[in-house]
Amino acid sequence: MTWSDEQFAKYRKDGYLFVRGLLGPRDLGALNETLPELLAGDEARDGMHREREKSGAVRQVYSADRHSPPFRALVRRPEILGPVRALTGNEVYVWHSKINVKDSFEGAVWLWHQDYGYWMWDGVEPKLTSVMVLLDRATVNNGCLMVVAGSHAWGRQEHFADTVTTSYKQWCVDVPTLRRRVREEDIRHIAGEPGDVLFFDCNLLHGSGHNMSPLPRKTFIVCYNDVANTPRPVEQPRPDWVVSRAYEAVRLEPAAT
Ligand code: SIN
Ligand code: MN
Repeated sequence: MTWSDEQFAKYRKDGYLFVRGLLGPRDLGALNETLPELLAGDEARDGMHREREKSGAVRQVYSADRHSPPFRALVRRPEILGPVRALTGNEVYVWHSKINVKDSFEGAVWLWHQDYGYWMWDGVEPKLTSVMVLLDRATVNNGCLMVVAGSHAWGRQEHFADTVTTSYKQWCVDVPTLRRRVREEDIRHIAGEPGDVLFFDCNLLHGSGHNMSPLPRKTFIVCYNDVANTPRPVEQPRPDWVVSRAYEAVRLEPAAT
């Protein structure tokens, strides 16, 4: 399963492609059923790493693809894996996956960054592709993802660690670079419905605002790496939940009908 030539061309030009309605109500039903347990669990019991907002609300839950059968199946879907393999030009493995929660009125900002801004320090080349599945309706009010079209072509920009804005250390691009590079007309809001899916390049500049809405904004992001791009040894290797050591290629698993 793959995309049309036009879709590949658009991805290469913009650094992302937003595919509407990739998942249907049955897929979403199965994912939603497992969510309460994934969000409410604790690491000591289930081994899933979680980040929290300053308020204590869950901000991120890592590795659902290892712990929940519907999420495991999702990262093996031909409609997702097919284009990712074609973009990579090789087999891929799961670098990591996370449910980004951004609860109503509590979910906080993600500052502008390129994922490869920090993944470079994990000892890999920029051959990673991320796929974000909307689990809730994403709107401008609830802090939908924003991307800067074409920014992947800038290549990696310098990043610094922001430790004050949220509960969570964020690698982000500094303001002078943003002022120099970002044009207002290139900022796109990835607003959509549950089941819509964004594919994006690891050098695409992206971020999102605070959730100012009564609607929660849950998404699932899975990042794939080229099987030929496993990390070189680095001084400070990060844990397996964020830099997976499970390097085996993901095999296709067509959805059950
Ligand atoms: C991310 O960059 O991983 C998160 C962005 C978001 O969920 O808004
Ligand atoms: Mn990111």
